[in-house]
Amino acid sequence: MNRDDFNVLGTGVIYFDNGATTLKPRILSEGVSDYYNNYSSNAHRGDYQMSIKASFMYEESRKIVCDFIGAKNPKQIVFTSGTTDSINKIVFGYFKNVLKSGDEVLLTKSEHASNLLPWFELADALNLRIKYIELDDNHEVTLDNVVKAISPKTKVISIAQISNVVGDIRPIKEITEYAHKNNIFVLVDGAQSAAHLKIDVCDLDIDFLAFSAHKMCGPTGVGVIYVKEDILNDINPIIFGGGMNADFSTDGTKIYKTMPDRLEAGTPNIAGVIGFGYVIKYLMNIGLDNIHSYELRLKKYALKRLKEIPQIKIYNENSQSGIITFNYDGIFPQDLAIYLDKYNICVRAGNHCAKILKDEINIKNTLRISLYFYNSEDEVDRLIEVLKNPNIKEEII
Ligand code: ALA
Repeated sequence: MNRDDFNVLGTGVIYFDNGATTLKPRILSEGVSDYYNNYSSNAHRGDYQMSIKASFMYEESRKIVCDFIGAKNPKQIVFTSGTTDSINKIVFGYFKNVLKSGDEVLLTKSEHASNLLPWFELADALNLRIKYIELDDNHEVTLDNVVKAISPKTKVISIAQISNVVGDIRPIKEITEYAHKNNIFVLVDGAQSAAHLKIDVCDLDIDFLAFSAHKMCGPTGVGVIYVKEDILNDINPIIFGGGMNADFSTDGTKIYKTMPDRLEAGTPNIAGVIGFGYVIKYLMNIGLDNIHSYELRLKKYALKRLKEIPQIKIYNENSQSGIITFNYDGIFPQDLAIYLDKYNICVRAGNHCAKILKDEINIKNTLRISLYFYNSEDEVDRLIEVLKNPNIKEEII
């Protein structure tokens, strides 16, 4: 779908590393260049036409994001530098102030480092207990296992909507429903889902959502925090400076602005945020439901073809996203990734920043293909052809 919108695809590259970051459609550089070439100025700080336009376009992007995830009010949308920044700001700007010694935080062993390390840090600081939701036989998260992990001390469940290695789609709506009945907050890491699934934060009843622009055709260095309305004013800044304060005095008294400004200290990534608005409109035009169903069809095809190669072991056949994680018997995943690169095929190898998943699946490194709407069956066929090379091991050695 829409392959002509991507310059890179015209060069013969087969790009299967969309979980790491996606390719960028031309509309992104057009939007970003328009800002840099025609109205490059600071936002929210100037009383002249160029700055007024920059502020307007920046705030338009906030409205577009608000609409994209079904939030009620653009004030609930904060721009950050990415999912990692977003989760850190939620953990240290909100949970640091509401959790206390002995409280429990539920995570999974298939979480990305950015949804584990901030919690490890907070747990050390506040003497919290980290508990892991058991994964099922397919390494997936089920509501039953979430419920089993909850105790009267559980205060937060922090979980990716889609794992970046297993690719399972977690039952967020059911989790929030159960969690909220038990006064438990739910933070959703949407890094791997926002580009692939229609998210409606009100329907899913999410308390906090974090995601990145660069994994959804957007620029690097832009991320989002969504905060539920009733806790909107309880999240404190952890970065201080210009743009986030209403006033301060010599004696150290200070007044911070309300949301979302209070969390956006310093000059933001104006060009990136404006470009992000352009690509979200682009994705909405294609339709998130179309993207997801296309990815699932392509994944089914890729699985069928990968199974023609007996040396390949797939770890996540059942998951309902475009992520396929596998190994080739007798070939180290990084060596296989380097071999595929010789044929212009980009995949990711390693632990994918999910370093404790090995405790569950007993495999430290894997090869990952992560599909997007611009991938095609022809590209999958080429991958299979290259993997079926009878001299593959000799070529790698
Ligand atoms: N989180 C990114 C990935 O899964 C970098 O590859």
